[in-house]
Amino acid sequence: LIGAGNLGRRFARLIAEKRAEIRDCHGLDLRIVGVADSRGAAIDPTGLDGPAIAEIKERSGSVAELPGVGRPGMSGLEMIETQQADVLCEAGPVNLEQGGEPGLSHVREALRRGMHVATPNKGPIVLAYRELTKLARGTGAQLRFDGTVAGGLPALNIGMRDLRGATIQRIDDVPNLTTGFVLDRLAAGATWDSAIAEARAEGALEGDGAWDLDGWDAASKIAILAQAVLDVDVSIDDVVREGIRDVDLNRLRGAKSCGACVRLMATAVRRSDGGYDLRVAPQEIPSDHSLTHLGSKSMGIVYQTDIYGTITSMIDEPTPLPSAATMLRDILDIYL
Ligand SMILES: NC(=O)c1ccc[n+]([C@@H]2O[C@H](COP(=O)([O-])OP(=O)(O)OC[C@H]3O[C@@H](n4cnc5c(N)ncnc54)[C@H](OP(=O)(O)O)[C@@H]3O)[C@@H](O)[C@H]2O)c1
Repeated sequence: LIGAGNLGRRFARLIAEKRAEIRDCHGLDLRIVGVADSRGAAIDPTGLDGPAIAEIKERSGSVAELPGVGRPGMSGLEMIETQQADVLCEAGPVNLEQGGEPGLSHVREALRRGMHVATPNKGPIVLAYRELTKLARGTGAQLRFDGTVAGGLPALNIGMRDLRGATIQRIDDVPNLTTGFVLDRLAAGATWDSAIAEARAEGALEGDGAWDLDGWDAASKIAILAQAVLDVDVSIDDVVREGIRDVDLNRLRGAKSCGACVRLMATAVRRSDGGYDLRVAPQEIPSDHSLTHLGSKSMGIVYQTDIYGTITSMIDEPTPLPSAATMLRDILDIYL
């Protein structure tokens, strides 16, 4: 496991809680044999203590401080290169502006070694989807990334698995919690500064907020959907992108008074030549739309297809547990 932040530490606890049930039901015995954060690693081939990992991270410590198993200074890459494991769970930072590193190198090296990968980290997938899937095919490893698009919502799984045989005419995706929260606060009468301050206090907004507020997060997600579900070769730069900074407050509040809401929507619309127009922009969701009941901490996706009709899926995600659990879903999908 690389990364023991919001997702990684919840995943460590989840594996401990679910281990006996998964072993008894499916005959699969899951052990975390190595974990790395930005300061070092902890290694135990017999299985690390998941709650101990979670507790030390909740106290802002490093896994390298875990008694008897800590390896101060050991990097994630070094851990992959020197320790035996069957699956890499990469839950490190996206770092798109740094070429998706170090996540991309972690995923690449694991696949190169024939190790399966389960990752909610968008960086490696949005930047190198084709390279990584080809690499995995070559070594027989499996690459799973269901958590990259809309937290715990199986948005990718539906598109990649359940819509087989369909032509997808349109995807409407609300893939970002932070902007939904800010837009709802603005619609309720908050000023921009107080809505941003509330999002920060909730832990929903980090740094200068550009990743979420300027639509980069949503753009990376529609670019992943386009590559993995629609099978088109695109980059994040092919997405026409508008964030929420210039959203019209009157439009927001007017929508709210009519029972509608505004969300940062990522869309893919099929053109007559078979390609797709990709766009991220704030959009009003009318009161009769299937996504109109999205709460402030909800995400959703609508697929319009030729043979399965229109499929809508939504998730309410008040904590990052569902996102963390996508790594478990991915692992079970690999083995069962
Ligand atoms: N949070 C969500 O709801 C959510 C939902 C879906 C997908 N994701 C994606 O999942 C990933 C993890 O998200 P998160 O919220 O858990 O992030 P986070 O809280 O910022 O945690 C990131 C973790 O990565 C570690 N890290 C940073 N640089 C590293 C390095 N060079 N080598 C090894 N570890 C390193 C950090 O170490 P320290 O603890 O030492 O700082 C931390 O433990 C991200 O890619 C994110 O986009 C998140």
